[in-house]
Amino acid sequence: MTIYDTYDRIEIEITSNCNARCSGCSRTLNGETNPQLTVADLTVEDFIARVPAEALHKKSIEFCGVFGDAIMHKNLIPIIEYINSTKPLRVSIDTNGGVQKPEFWKKLAQLGVKVTFSVDGHRETNHLYRVNTNFDIILRNMKAYADGGGWGNWEYIAFDHNEHEIEAARLEAERLNFDFNVRRNSRNTHEGYKSVAKVKENGKVVKKEIEIKQTSKEYQHSQVKETEFELNDEAVQKLVDIKCLYYHDRKLYLGFDGRLWPCCYFGDLYNGQGNPQIIGKDANKYEFLSFEKIRKLDKKYGVGWNSILNYSWEEILGHEYYNKVLPGTFNSNGSNFSTDDVVPKCALKCRKGGSIREVERQFFTKPEENVYEKDYIFDKNMYDK
Ligand SMILES: C[S@@+](CC[C@H](N)C(=O)[O-])C[C@H]1O[C@@H](n2cnc3c(N)ncnc32)[C@H](O)[C@@H]1O
Ligand code: SF4
Ligand code: SF4
Repeated sequence: MTIYDTYDRIEIEITSNCNARCSGCSRTLNGETNPQLTVADLTVEDFIARVPAEALHKKSIEFCGVFGDAIMHKNLIPIIEYINSTKPLRVSIDTNGGVQKPEFWKKLAQLGVKVTFSVDGHRETNHLYRVNTNFDIILRNMKAYADGGGWGNWEYIAFDHNEHEIEAARLEAERLNFDFNVRRNSRNTHEGYKSVAKVKENGKVVKKEIEIKQTSKEYQHSQVKETEFELNDEAVQKLVDIKCLYYHDRKLYLGFDGRLWPCCYFGDLYNGQGNPQIIGKDANKYEFLSFEKIRKLDKKYGVGWNSILNYSWEEILGHEYYNKVLPGTFNSNGSNFSTDDVVPKCALKCRKGGSIREVERQFFTKPEENVYEKDYIFDKNMYDK
């Protein structure tokens, strides 16, 4: 067994750059790119030099991430060609679909890439959350991908402002021969938050604040409140039922800065969530504590201790943090348990055997029946050729 046998899937954030400014995204602050965010790419040269074939072979390669959109990377196609040469299980991208020429989309289809289009509305509403995107360009790109033989998936986050366009989008997806899934908003379902959208008024484009909410019961899970629970010190110290994405679900995360993490939550914490400089007044005690715990690892192990730009995959995944420290935090009755090492985020997202994560990624393929379909992305056979 090698360290490459410890995971089946890897999520890659190839860039922190994005054409859109979705208000619920970690990269956006008051309608603009957060000025504190580092905007950078993993270059094609570094990717080929630092990601060995064994890291990709027979794996599910999932371009998604926290801060960016893969279609903004200038060399995505050569990176995918390199990945394909290693014979992965499959390659997929989650994207807003709003940039690049039709030829690019056709090429993605020809390379066998499965694309999930994150499009939360039809012509009237998508740009209200997916700020800066243009529906007609997205539709053109979807068509080019479909014409190239691509089988796409349209993922539609339902909000109060776009519920009335779900049917139009569903029909559009049918015309494209795409799958169609309605997804729940997992950010601030109770309070709502503002999107600074660009809209046309009297023939002029103006900036307008739009309230982003999802209040319809139809699109809420009965346990939605549980995802918003208040952590307390006791919950943090009593961890027994953690289901970790890496250790239990065998999924790894590579960030735009080359850092390998057990999950996107840690990548997000390191560069954003929890850092008061990034999220300002919204910093909450446990997010901040989580951020501090993760940043402290740099002090203990040296800055860049988990970056593929500095170390080999064997050195990183074989590191004591991965081998001993982190898994030691998952069971407060275990011999390696130390409260000092616990990252509260683990309790927040992964307690109750990971069921909280499942609630957050709930899909309603048949909203009229409010049917909970298990996350299809986790279905291993779905994309197999
Ligand atoms: C940060 S994005 C990165 C990938 C790509 N830029 C995109 O948007 O698909 C990662 C995931 O977050 C999702 N997302 C964005 N806003 C969301 C929200 N309010 N609730 C739930 N998921 C959201 C996106 O749809 C995407 O699936
Ligand atoms: S498209 Fe994705 S990365 Fe870009 S702002 Fe929206 S959620 Fe964030
Ligand atoms: S938050 Fe903690 S338990 Fe959850 S996936 Fe990340 S490292 Fe694992």
